[in-house]
Amino acid sequence: MPIYNDIIMEHFKNPRNLGSISDADGIGEAGNPVCGDLMKMYIKVDRKGNKEYISDIKFETLGCGAAIAVSSMTTEMAKGKTLDEVMKITRDDVADTLDGLPPEKMHCSNLASDALHKAIEDYHSKANKD
Ligand code: FES
Repeated sequence: MPIYNDIIMEHFKNPRNLGSISDADGIGEAGNPVCGDLMKMYIKVDRKGNKEYISDIKFETLGCGAAIAVSSMTTEMAKGKTLDEVMKITRDDVADTLDGLPPEKMHCSNLASDALHKAIEDYHSKANKD
């Protein structure tokens, strides 16, 4: 059984931004080929001047404790940031902010940033159709 640090345990026990957004502006989904787990990110996008930013974000996950903690942390990192800033959040940034994941759980940290980037791509593809 992997050993998790206190930050990961805290996010696992009290996940932030858990749930879905019925009128989301973008939805992204990512699956983990290693374990078959799934993650979904929902975003609302607003505008401040000429910048688009994430005004709300929620996630749903069918995954392990590390995936839940990583998703929770990722939503906190993304909320209020511009889309350009969020696209720069990498898998490693998320794992670093959680102060490191056990090596055998590193693959779990990929789901959240992948799903988040896909939600932004989904938002752009919808916005381009209008
Ligand atoms: Fe599946 Fe962690 S074991 S996401």
